[in-house]
Amino acid sequence: MAEYDTFADRYDTTFELVPLRTYVEAHSIMELVGDVTEQAWLDVACGTGAYTRQLRRRGASRVLGVDLSPEMIRVARDAEQERPSGVEYQVADVGALGDVGRFDGALGVYLLHYSESVEHLHDMCRNIGRSLRPGGRFVAYQLSPDISQVPGYYLKYGADFLLRSDGPLENGEAFAFRINVTGFQSPYFTVYYWSRAALEEALTEAGFGEIRWVMPTLSPEGHDHPGPQWWQDHLDQPFAVLLEAVKM
Ligand SMILES: C[S@@+](CC[C@H](N)C(=O)[O-])C[C@H]1O[C@@H](n2cnc3c(N)ncnc32)[C@H](O)[C@@H]1O
Repeated sequence: MAEYDTFADRYDTTFELVPLRTYVEAHSIMELVGDVTEQAWLDVACGTGAYTRQLRRRGASRVLGVDLSPEMIRVARDAEQERPSGVEYQVADVGALGDVGRFDGALGVYLLHYSESVEHLHDMCRNIGRSLRPGGRFVAYQLSPDISQVPGYYLKYGADFLLRSDGPLENGEAFAFRINVTGFQSPYFTVYYWSRAALEEALTEAGFGEIRWVMPTLSPEGHDHPGPQWWQDHLDQPFAVLLEAVKM
């Protein structure tokens, strides 16, 4: 995931340049996360800490952000130094995460599709599960198992996928993705396709139950940016969906 190191300093501009991040992504994630007052939350693949800080601002008592990229964590720590909020950060592969304590909730925004193998996927889920108390929730937002394979389907939303369009995708299949909007182009990353069944199996094996898939929604403010019709393709077949699982 060395790609993230190369543009960590510019990463946060995606929240301004990609309307989907605010009006669909952040809105849907925070709606599902709900009230975090006095709860401890772990943010896995926290990146530059946008959601990590938001959890703390919303009243979480302890928030730890973990990410594989030292540069993304450096940017997150710089923000913390500039405006101290009591958030902690750690550089680690979630697939090899040690004991970081017990949390009430774990958030994983754009993480599980970076699992390079079934073993890596299971390791990530197991480590997240081990970090949660019984009854604790894992909320994920990640590539949809039903992603459109139509070339350029998500381009107007700033998401550029190079996907096979001949036949269904297979578990563990690698494909390229980049953020591509006016004013910002990331390098291509390799992401991996995981089916609903593969994700549910990894979570179940990690001790999760009550697994629930949730479709993202558009915030009321988003209706006017630039208009409700513009969002329809994404709402019909979003490239990312929400997943909630409870630690048994
Ligand atoms: C698209 S960014 C999302 C960052 C943040 N969650 C957000 O939504 O702004 C994906 C992040 O996943 C991290 N990542 C990828 N594989 C990882 C792994 N195995 N363990 C921890 N972090 C990982 C990358 O370093 C990158 O910061």
